[in-house]
Amino acid sequence: MTATSSESHPISVCKSHGLAGQFGHPTGFLGLLVGRLMATKNRFMNQAVVELLDVQPNESILEIGFGPGTAIQELIRTTKATRIAGVDPSTLMLSQASRRNRRGIQTGQVDLKLGSASQIPFDEETFDKVFAVNSFHHWSDPIRGLNEVLRVLKNKGQLILALRAALPQKRMFSAPGFTEQQMEQVEQRLQAAGFSETRRVEREAGRNIVCLISQK
Ligand SMILES: C[S@@+](CC[C@H](N)C(=O)[O-])C[C@H]1O[C@@H](n2cnc3c(N)ncnc32)[C@H](O)[C@@H]1O
Repeated sequence: MTATSSESHPISVCKSHGLAGQFGHPTGFLGLLVGRLMATKNRFMNQAVVELLDVQPNESILEIGFGPGTAIQELIRTTKATRIAGVDPSTLMLSQASRRNRRGIQTGQVDLKLGSASQIPFDEETFDKVFAVNSFHHWSDPIRGLNEVLRVLKNKGQLILALRAALPQKRMFSAPGFTEQQMEQVEQRLQAAGFSETRRVEREAGRNIVCLISQK
């Protein structure tokens, strides 16, 4: 996600308005442009996260908050996942991501749905791995979202939350990212939700990112 410096960055609801708000809830003409921007700007981050997922043949993967669908595209291109599913509350992102991944949808490998982290429209114990890139801080109810992730994950399944690390100094047109304290708060939420362990992996992907990898 690339956003203006006016974008707030609490670990729960991101209540930004205007252009910054479009990154959390893309709609209309601005949302269309923001979707295209994210597809370019977030590509390296999405590639890094897909690599970290280390998808094994026959695994089922779910992305929460897929936006323009670049991580889904990368999953199709680089893995042998049997099932690649996604959920996002934006109808605009659903249509951009569906267009970007139309072949995968046609073959039945990809299944993208309208919905949210609070109400994931898939059955329990469906997925080996679930991930979210630049999306967790937009979830309207993070605790409910994490409970939903636990519901749809198989036993010993894995969740990756990919977050941008805070910049040492505020920069115009760059999302502020998560401070150390905010990262710790997310880790505490993961533990409180019932994930058995969480480890951190840091990557340089155009910008420093932190992936919180948790196990059910
Ligand atoms: C900043 S974009 C990131 C998109 C993509 N993952 C990327 O990195 O390019 C955040 C996405 O999260 C979605 N989102 C917002 N609230 C959500 C929620 N409650 N549950 C799931 N996704 C949500 C938005 O619609 C948007 O597509």
